Amino acid sequence: MEFYKEIAIKNGQMCILRNAKESDAESFMRYFELAHGETDFLTTYPDESEHNLNKTAERLNAAKESKTNIEICAFVDNQLIGSAGNNMIHDRDKTRHRAGFGISIVKEYWGLGIGRALTESCIECAKKAGFLQLELDVVADNTTAIELYKRCGFVEFGRNPRGFKTREENWQELVLMRLELDSMN
Ligand SMILES: CC(C)(COP(=O)(O)OP(=O)(O)OC[C@H]1O[C@@H](n2cnc3c(N)ncnc32)[C@H](O)[C@@H]1OP(=O)(O)O)[C@@H](O)C(=O)NCCC(=O)NCCS
Repeated sequence: MEFYKEIAIKNGQMCILRNAKESDAESFMRYFELAHGETDFLTTYPDESEHNLNKTAERLNAAKESKTNIEICAFVDNQLIGSAGNNMIHDRDKTRHRAGFGISIVKEYWGLGIGRALTESCIECAKKAGFLQLELDVVADNTTAIELYKRCGFVEFGRNPRGFKTREENWQELVLMRLELDSMN
């Protein structure tokens, strides 16, 4: 899907939100590793990323060409510093209405309104794509993300106490959240 928006963030800088393309692959990999090393709230450790320029480029291109899925990147000063995306849960008649949502931003840019803008942009794209429900899992201790999701209309529908097991052998409870897109204003 195509997406483009410019927003002013809370420190006065401009931020461009646009779909990632093949040529963003190298910066995307750099941002991904940085952002995934700065928090323990994400599913993937930085060393579990693809580490493959061609595969990353292919994946970004596929999302851009997709009629339903999207990866929106946030650029400040021409640097890719965050991204969020929607992916169809499963391409079957009974599940085609559901998309999964994910987001991460490099720490230096937290708290500036980029997460809110990326989430709202993905909601807009999910509606345009015809999805009826957007879903996510979030670590129960991730209060910033949970607050962001609630403000965007997501509601909790369950918990998975053993959702993640960290490399330090700690359980992380996951909160399951969903947003009904066809009942939004
Ligand atoms: C979670 C994350 C995406 C939020 O993005 P962000 O750009 O920092 O968030 P925003 O500045 O847009 O703030 C959005 C909301 O979050 C909440 N929030 C932001 N900073 C907060 C803080 N320090 N404490 C509590 N709530 C906070 C506020 O409710 C804010 O609402 P507002 O838009 O009405 O002000 C970002 O912190 C991040 O990438 N974290 C690491 C990866 C991660 O946890 N991803 C989510 C996995 S499910």
